Amino acid sequence: MNAPDPAIHRPMPHVLNTYGRLPIALTHGRGCWVWDTQGRRYLDALGGIAVNTLGHAHPRLVPALQDQVARMIHCSNYYEVPLQEQLAARLCELSGLAGAFFCNSGLEANEGALKIARKYGHDRGISRPQVIVYEKAFHGRSIATLSATGNPKVQKGFEPLVEGFVRVPLNDLDAIREVARTNPDVVAVFLEVIQGEGGINPARADYLRGLRALCDERGWLLMLDEVQCGLGRTGKWFAHQWAGIRPDVMPLAKGLGSGVPIGAIVCGLKAVDVLGPGNHGTTFGGNPLAMRAGVETLRIMEEEGLLANAAAMGELLMGELRRGLQGVAGVVEFRGQGLMIGIELDRPCGVLLQRAADAGLMISVTADRVVRLLPALVIGADEVRGIASILVPLVRDFLAEAPAS
Ligand SMILES: Cc1ncc(COP(=O)(O)O)c(C=O)c1O
Repeated sequence: MNAPDPAIHRPMPHVLNTYGRLPIALTHGRGCWVWDTQGRRYLDALGGIAVNTLGHAHPRLVPALQDQVARMIHCSNYYEVPLQEQLAARLCELSGLAGAFFCNSGLEANEGALKIARKYGHDRGISRPQVIVYEKAFHGRSIATLSATGNPKVQKGFEPLVEGFVRVPLNDLDAIREVARTNPDVVAVFLEVIQGEGGINPARADYLRGLRALCDERGWLLMLDEVQCGLGRTGKWFAHQWAGIRPDVMPLAKGLGSGVPIGAIVCGLKAVDVLGPGNHGTTFGGNPLAMRAGVETLRIMEEEGLLANAAAMGELLMGELRRGLQGVAGVVEFRGQGLMIGIELDRPCGVLLQRAADAGLMISVTADRVVRLLPALVIGADEVRGIASILVPLVRDFLAEAPAS
């Protein structure tokens, strides 16, 4: 083994330096609580960035995964994988869509969705298909998905970007109509129902309905990235269901495996036959361990009433935060739905990550000035009050001390 460069003084010198990490190493968790190597306990309002749907070490998920590991972790897509069919059928039942492809992460699901859009265009004789994407969107960090992302910080240094995207602002139907009028090569509209990394920015229900109508009129695919906002987080299985619409393509990941890496592209009838044998594939995607994690996650969510819990606990949390912070100078806006909550402040607030951890709370800060909360869907009322009782004074003190930039 080579010695690390002595000039590098990082706690993990052999690991590429791609994350701004806090100096905390977690060892284990239970429900909405995690512990570090020093034995300190934290209330987890981050949930592994919307991944730990069932919290940590769920007493029903753990034995199911142990059972699956002992049977088979991976086999390959040379063979039929019955658990894939089981999970795909359940996702279709919950979404009203027609079929699913399995991969391993959010960016992979989105990459596959973009391939579907392009192939859909080519099948219709459009040789340079265009996809409408959004300002402040986040779709991942592969070359294609960072090109679809609407954040110059994510793109900088990785040019040339992939072509074939037209960018519009969120919640502005006129902007899309203008693109429709001037661009005959558009094949799809691609957006998050609630932008996560962009700062918890919801697409309005009437906007989503307008998009659905426009896509039907034009023959475009409506592709809704539910990687962060889907899987029960907002109180429905999928966030778009609040608007009473169905997408044609829906990438999923994060919470679907409750911590086991997984991604899915769920397709409606318009998109389900676009890809055929040889058009797409992945070695790990759909392996029995990930599929079992998905099947068990959805089963436990339903049996334990976690959608209703997400809605109720989200309302409680938003209420507590408003009660403690509304009207405080420097608090700009509260946004979100269910257990996907953002508090926009009037200044960059990244320092709150360490301060919250010092106070025993895990949170996220996104888009520089938005405190973001994404706790597990199993969270209880006492834990919700616990989050607010730590966060409210932290934010108040922070805003009292720092001058607005
Ligand atoms: C909406 C959305 N899409 C895609 C991704 C990328 O997912 P992954 O990090 O699993 O590649 C994310 C990750 O934060 C996301 O929030």
